[in-house]
Amino acid sequence: MTAGKFITFEGGEGSGKSTQAMMLADRLRALGKNVVVTREPGGTPLGESIRELILANRPALVAEFLLFAAARAEHVATKILPALDAGNWVVCDRYIDSTRVYQGKLAGIDPHLIDIVEKHTSKNAWPSLTLILDVPPATGRVRASERGDLNRYDAEKISYHEQIREGFLEIAAREPRRCIVIDGSKSTSEVAGSVRGALSARFGVEA
Ligand SMILES: Nc1ncnc2c1ncn2[C@@H]1O[C@H](COP(=O)(O)OP(=O)(O)OP(=O)(O)O)[C@@H](O)[C@H]1O
Ligand SMILES: [Mg+2]
Repeated sequence: MTAGKFITFEGGEGSGKSTQAMMLADRLRALGKNVVVTREPGGTPLGESIRELILANRPALVAEFLLFAAARAEHVATKILPALDAGNWVVCDRYIDSTRVYQGKLAGIDPHLIDIVEKHTSKNAWPSLTLILDVPPATGRVRASERGDLNRYDAEKISYHEQIREGFLEIAAREPRRCIVIDGSKSTSEVAGSVRGALSARFGVEA
């Protein structure tokens, strides 16, 4: 099989998404695969501009949701789909599940709105596999502290981080064919081993 797969990494702050996305991309490349690594929000010039606009303007919740949606529509149309159509593997750091958790569960955007926008922006770019990196908030906090980001982490109560964790686990329980939960609290190489195991189980690829 030559067609690429679309793999997304999800999880709370400091769960290791960016680290594992890069490591997986490196292993897939070593197997001779063409890999595009990307992230949300952002991933395209327009998406990065929208991300900056959001940070600079702190829009109202629905406005923020729709701006993120515009960034996703652009990302899917100009980057993710063309890469998949060309047979590349695409590894994306945060995607639809982060929207469901942060904008839906946490910010209270109507799930029907999230659902319909998700269908229209992402239905042609549906993840083949979503790896949910699960870490207790205490672990996320230690990692945030180690990278000098503790203020941002502590700006929210621990219950907020608990709810994020719960939100991702709820999605995994509802969509077990798409999602695999990985214990992200282990060492970087152990987590990478679990990611390999997931790819082997789902795609028969020993990455
Ligand atoms: N398994 C691990 N064990 C210990 N430290 C780790 C592990 N994985 C990542 N880290 C470290 O924890 C910090 C957060 O990791 P990373 O940036 O990959 O997480 P993230 O999920 O992308 O976070 P964010 O949501 O903030 O983007 C980094 O400093 C990273 O080096
Ligand atoms: Mg990251």
